[in-house]
Amino acid sequence: ASIDAAEFIKSQIRTVPDWPQAGVQFRDITPLLQRPKTLRMLTDLLVERYVEAKLDYVAGLDARGFIIAPIIAYELNVGFIPIRKIGKLPFRTVSESYELEYGSATVEIHEDACRAGDRVVIVDDLIATGGTMMAGKKLLERLGATVVEGAAIIDLPDLGGSKLLRENGLPLYTITEFS
Ligand code: PRP
Ligand code: ADE
Repeated sequence: ASIDAAEFIKSQIRTVPDWPQAGVQFRDITPLLQRPKTLRMLTDLLVERYVEAKLDYVAGLDARGFIIAPIIAYELNVGFIPIRKIGKLPFRTVSESYELEYGSATVEIHEDACRAGDRVVIVDDLIATGGTMMAGKKLLERLGATVVEGAAIIDLPDLGGSKLLRENGLPLYTITEFS
């Protein structure tokens, strides 16, 4: 049944060629969010995966992880942690910088977002180079959390991020992939 769900979810992701720049095939999740059926299929898959995981928090990556992660947290009756692009969080933060294809990016977490030993899953829409998810893992680990798994709707395996993350000790759950 979950194979069918994954295939149906994949069929509802829209590919936009040459956005935001020439050569990029942008994988757009907004059609998935738009239909109650696919929004529920997607969130049910993630909730079922973590219902027995004894999580303390679900963390979401700015900005598209913020759409899905709080739904999962709500259903699991745990808290939500935002990991944000630099300059958005008001209290004291811990930050991590990482390399993008061109230039670099920095993400932050509040230093009191969780406590040592807390069990956390990180949720995002998509894994490309893995840089964003890796930075999220590092931030949570600097706070002493145990990152149980990274979860994303889409993996782009040709960009190597999912392999890199797994090699660096982060188990990953992805629903579908595009090559
Ligand atoms: C996209 C996507 C992931 C990240 C994946 O976000 O939503 O967070 O890139 O790429 P990576 O695996 O190479 O790190 P983006 O940085 O474009 O920001 P947005 O969510 O604000 O659009
Ligand atoms: N983030 C990085 N690469 C992406 C892609 N191809 N589609 C959507 N989001 C992305």
